[in-house]
Amino acid sequence: MDKFVVKGGTRLQGEIGTGGAKNSALPALAATLLTDQRMVLRHIPRVRDVRTMQRLLVDIGAKVEADGECVQIYVADVRSPEAPYELVKTMRASSLVLGPLVARAGRARVSLPGGCAIGARPINLHLAALEQLGAKIEQAHGYIEATAPHGLRGATVRFERITVTGTEDLMMAAALAQGETLIENAAREPEVVDLAALLGKMGAQIEGAGSSTIRIQGVAHLGGADHTIIPDRIEAGTYLVAGAITGGDLVVTGCVPEHVAALVTKLQAAGAEVAEVDDSTLRVRAERELRSADVVTQEYPGFATDLQAQYMALMTQAEGIAIITETIFENRFMHAQELARMGASIRLEGNQAIVAGKKELTGAGVIASDLRASASLVLAALVARGETVIDRVYHIDRGYEKIEQKLAAVGAQIQRVD
Ligand code: EPU
Repeated sequence: MDKFVVKGGTRLQGEIGTGGAKNSALPALAATLLTDQRMVLRHIPRVRDVRTMQRLLVDIGAKVEADGECVQIYVADVRSPEAPYELVKTMRASSLVLGPLVARAGRARVSLPGGCAIGARPINLHLAALEQLGAKIEQAHGYIEATAPHGLRGATVRFERITVTGTEDLMMAAALAQGETLIENAAREPEVVDLAALLGKMGAQIEGAGSSTIRIQGVAHLGGADHTIIPDRIEAGTYLVAGAITGGDLVVTGCVPEHVAALVTKLQAAGAEVAEVDDSTLRVRAERELRSADVVTQEYPGFATDLQAQYMALMTQAEGIAIITETIFENRFMHAQELARMGASIRLEGNQAIVAGKKELTGAGVIASDLRASASLVLAALVARGETVIDRVYHIDRGYEKIEQKLAAVGAQIQRVD
């Protein structure tokens, strides 16, 4: 199993680029199941979750040709409308094939995801939504079987809580349903907007993506499309924190500044300078001592839960007490114990982490527990005295492409070892 060995203490300086958004690429790949025409997806990040989704598509019957960041997919036939446990357990986003499969093939069999490191994360809201479109849902042997032999019918669906992949799943199903679907309390994440743009190119009629109400007029067929995935706002945000935590001067290119606005506001409150160089470039400089700033995670456009762990690492280096409140997932503080092993002072109280800084961090052996937790350990290691060995970096490979090479290119002393 790969590990990262990091020697802390260097300021990061230079330019670092952002890849395509993992959480946009995954629904885009699932959307290829909606058509028998050729799909071309560009700026697809080469990360493990994307490879897992491609494997799932191949199992289902897709022909997938990947050439660097461009993936061409052709699903002439849905051979086996099934997402097996072996894949779903490694990547919950596999449930994104549910909606497209029921809509196109009239049937889907998808393993229940089970628990995950950051919380229970059920898919009950996806299922209730599909039921409202007329799908029959049955559960047996750890699998969900959804059927709609005569097709889906549009309906008004109000999500009782905001769900990103739930909104995406329903949007894809509704695109091929008969009549109109109204999604209320929809997720407003940029990834939802990107999926709507892709579906629009395929011939879907969708209005309102990016707002809380999405209106979809179902069509009988969808065609092929050529689409470029948006930049990864969580990757960009992670690099902004890397610049700030190391007291560096980092230019993050290929990003959408608006998508990381909530983080930028907090970085500025903490004393880092962040400037928009142009519409796809941000520069972060942290020459002064950092000070604490509280954060509450929220759905977009609020502060992303996917940046909470990285921000916690930053707050260990800020003067004062920072209260970090996690409202999206019930168990997303696994990194706190590992940060504490490096010398951080963090007290957990329910869904709040109280971080007292500034504490000197020292290198230690730590274990990555999930994707964003591993990113926070890398960030902490960049400022720790001495050497940190981060185990189980396969978690980070799920969502960051070549993070060690990108960080090394701007001055980090980080190496991947077997
Ligand atoms: N929820 C339910 N029932 C459902 C669906 C969600 O109770 O049927 C709950 C969840 O357990 C959670 C909350 O609702 O407490 C919000 O979950 P959501 O459905 O929005 O999360 P998701 O769609 O499974 C996506 C991202 C996550 C990101 C969250 C929140 C993808 C593939 N994943 O997950 O990304 O944290 O939205 O923004 O888009 C990551 O990239 O590290 C990651 C975990």
